[in-house]
Amino acid sequence: MRTQIQLLKSVEIYVKKKTERETTGHDWFHADRVRRNALFIAQKEFGNKDIDLFLLQAVALMHDLGDWKVNTTSKSEKEILENACLMLKIPENYSSQIVEIITHLSYSANIEKKYELPFEGKIVQDADRLDALGAIGIARAFAFGGKRDRQIYNPNIKPKTHKSTKSYKTTENPTINHFYEKLFLLKDLMNTKTGKKLALKREKFMKKYLEKFYGEWKGEI
Ligand code: ADP
Ligand code: NI
Repeated sequence: MRTQIQLLKSVEIYVKKKTERETTGHDWFHADRVRRNALFIAQKEFGNKDIDLFLLQAVALMHDLGDWKVNTTSKSEKEILENACLMLKIPENYSSQIVEIITHLSYSANIEKKYELPFEGKIVQDADRLDALGAIGIARAFAFGGKRDRQIYNPNIKPKTHKSTKSYKTTENPTINHFYEKLFLLKDLMNTKTGKKLALKREKFMKKYLEKFYGEWKGEI
């Protein structure tokens, strides 16, 4: 019988391999940061009590394996995750929870209807959202936008409110708009106190960054 530590090692190797060519900020390093953020939040909020740390880490590491932003296959996210769990020989009681949580975790999956996640899901969701903010969040947004042929900024295109998943997924707005269309909404959507506090701090930094950005745009030296 493999221990949970050995199983997590296999998950790490699998995620590294599967995200080798990923260049939009959904790579292994993102997965690893999300795990670290999730462990930090779990420790702060629960002292790790009542939290299944194996489930938490597996969800964090695997959460973007089948995400619509990186999925170039004809398989659904659910199929990709079920296949990964099968390949990794993750016990059935865990694989069903992993698939159920991850398929309801992303921002886009919660636009039209907010899903109630178990604690492990709530924590990873906050951890993932934190990685969309701050200095790393800025880098990831521009990397994603560049890959999707988005403009950096266009003062003539105003930010939109996305009320449907379709509108969110299909927008071709410049990357700066993404800050207003999603990233600055995240702090109010955080599930945990710790997540919210960190989100506020990271958002503050992004607002400072934008001040400089608009200043330079207007010609400030
Ligand atoms: P989620 O899938 O829950 O939104 P992820 O961390 O997996 O969270 O991916 C979100 C990241 O994808 C954003 O932080 C951003 O970097 C990038 N992204 C998604 N949509 C856009 C967009 N329209 N413009 C720029 N970046 C985007
Ligand atoms: Ni993610």
